[in-house]
Amino acid sequence: MTRRSVILGCGAYVPERVMTNHDLEKIVDTTDEWIVERTGIRSRHIAAEGEFTSDLAVKAAERALAHAGVSAQEVDLIVVATATPDNTFPATASKVQAKLGITSGIAFDVQAVCSGFVFALATADNFIKAGQVKTALVIGAETFSRILDWTDRTTCVLFGDGAGAVVLRAEEGIAGTDRRGILSTHLHTDGRHHDMLYVDGGPSSTQTVGHLRMRGQEVFKHAVVNLASVVEEALEANGLTSAAIDWLVPHQANKRIIDSTGRKLKLDPSRVVLTVDHHGNTSAASIPLALCEAVHDGRIQRGNLVLMEAMGGGFTWGAALVRW
Ligand code: UT7
Repeated sequence: MTRRSVILGCGAYVPERVMTNHDLEKIVDTTDEWIVERTGIRSRHIAAEGEFTSDLAVKAAERALAHAGVSAQEVDLIVVATATPDNTFPATASKVQAKLGITSGIAFDVQAVCSGFVFALATADNFIKAGQVKTALVIGAETFSRILDWTDRTTCVLFGDGAGAVVLRAEEGIAGTDRRGILSTHLHTDGRHHDMLYVDGGPSSTQTVGHLRMRGQEVFKHAVVNLASVVEEALEANGLTSAAIDWLVPHQANKRIIDSTGRKLKLDPSRVVLTVDHHGNTSAASIPLALCEAVHDGRIQRGNLVLMEAMGGGFTWGAALVRW
């Protein structure tokens, strides 16, 4: 196939308020030392009262469009990856579309929790490759602070709020792994593991929003195995080895999980983009937030091979290999 999705630009937004581990020490029985040692997290951003997922998404989207040099009117597909929508329905993507002043095209949400950005990227990429759309906005946006049980120290210290976005454009006549664009995406789901990571509420079950529940150790073990296998799958599908990777942009759940994937790929730690220390786990927003940071500070350069990977509730997991 010679039609490819090229990433033209990216943008990110995090809420103003920063919550440090020391702030958390005042709320639950925890310590900065425990959080840093077990997760690598030092601080996270928390949305202000009245600041919704769609607000974060719009700010990230506007920055991505400006970076890409694309006007909102050119966008014919918006996919928002989120597990924390403004409302049960309509999709947060519809709100984002309206706030961006767009009145035509397609807009919907994708729900794959922490793997959401990779699932959304794959969805938009497939719409582009099928010739159905030309310009897509893919956004990962979350306000996980709203679904945390702030009395549960095993989960509330881990997550944060934020949004990141990329602009994709269809380009014709591109082939080969050395040319720009999304080379491939790889998605997986195994619904048997529902109880290891879920929210204990919902419109159809409890008619409440519910709180996040996680069996951290079990999730950790699955994450390490699934991520190692999906990054291998992505490299193999393109006839590449890990030596070709310039940057690993992983989902930012836990530094220990990220280090493990980096080690398996024999990547120098300086080639791994790490933002978990100042963002915490922002679920679907974590990859585009990390990607933007490394693009805007000049680490990721045109022509670099970027490997993204994520694992989340469902279980869902996936990877995307992109020539920047
Ligand atoms: O993004 C979606 C995917 N999510 C993930 O990938 C998360 C995967 N899991 C993890 O990152 C880790 O399992 C955690 C960071 C959640 C937990 O780290 P762990 O090394 O697996 O710790 P643990 O759950 O085995 O708990 C160890 C101890 C326990 O005490 P005991 O039973 O040994 O006395 C916990 O009660 O640490 C205790 N503990 C805490 N202590 C201080 C748990 N949470 C805290 C806390 N502060 N916040």
